[in-house]
Amino acid sequence: MKTLLVFGQSGQLARALAAEAPMYGCAVICAGHERGDLAARPQAAVEIIAAEKPGLVINAAAYTAVDLAEKEEEKARAINALAPELMAKECGNQNIPFIHVSTDYVFDGRAGRPYVESDTPHPLNAYGRTKLEGEQRVLSVRPQAMVVRTSAVYERGGKNFVDTIRRLVKEKNSLRVVNDQIVSLTRARTLARQLLVLAEQPEGGLYHATAQGEAAWFAIAGVIRDHENAACELVPITTVEYGAPADRPRYSVLDNARLRLRGLDRMHHWREDLMEYLDGG
Ligand SMILES: NC(=O)c1ccc[n+]([C@@H]2O[C@H](COP(=O)([O-])OP(=O)(O)OC[C@H]3O[C@@H](n4cnc5c(N)ncnc54)[C@H](OP(=O)(O)O)[C@@H]3O)[C@@H](O)[C@H]2O)c1
Repeated sequence: MKTLLVFGQSGQLARALAAEAPMYGCAVICAGHERGDLAARPQAAVEIIAAEKPGLVINAAAYTAVDLAEKEEEKARAINALAPELMAKECGNQNIPFIHVSTDYVFDGRAGRPYVESDTPHPLNAYGRTKLEGEQRVLSVRPQAMVVRTSAVYERGGKNFVDTIRRLVKEKNSLRVVNDQIVSLTRARTLARQLLVLAEQPEGGLYHATAQGEAAWFAIAGVIRDHENAACELVPITTVEYGAPADRPRYSVLDNARLRLRGLDRMHHWREDLMEYLDGG
């Protein structure tokens, strides 16, 4: 049985990978920040890989606090760029397949159509800059690594839009929700399965792996509100009105072009996954 080493433990994707990997014939070891703090010592990643000698490594660890990253870019850079480079290098030394996860926020959202892997990135915020640097560092030291961009991730036990809105529509009479950011809402469980499928047929380079379809946060909130039969009024607002510290792309939908081309796209429509999730599945 192959051993999968996951960087990340309590994170949304890390937990989903731990739950799903046995179905793909993998034993799993998760390494969270208590095993090695990648901000303080990115080198810890190398020591963990060397100690565990896994058959596959997936990096689900990241600095994901998009707004806070504006003030903590160096910390975000250590976790999102320096540590992944070291992981990729060590996996190269030991000839271990490596999957690194990245984000739609490497794009500026001005394309006006879904982004394919060959589109030129141009991040709008510090988080996106550190994630883009991570992609570039990983692929420059290990072209055989797979860098998989995803978007708007949610899963049970995580800090995410779906769970937040589900709670708030029951607590509040009215809720302002951003209506000018279009995303592909992606369930971590589906993404985890997709990464495990990709790992079975490794081929280096960039991939996009997001749910099919697209929607503004406001429309997604409407689906959640209706599912919960809540009376909460939803008020559409703009990104500027919301006033978050970090700017975000207005249209960051990704096209899973390369997965589709390889016959490996296992992602679902966002609405199908969301309904199943809200129904408890
Ligand atoms: N969340 C989204 O909406 C979204 C959107 C696009 C792309 N992505 C990408 O998808 C991937 C998975 O995201 P997620 O939503 O699962 O993230 P998450 O729930 O925020 O989890 C982050 C993970 O990173 C680990 N981590 C954070 N700081 C660390 C440190 N200093 N040292 C070691 N580990 C550290 C955490 O470790 P512990 O388990 O020890 O806490 C946790 O497992 C990331 O690459 C992210 O950039 C996410």
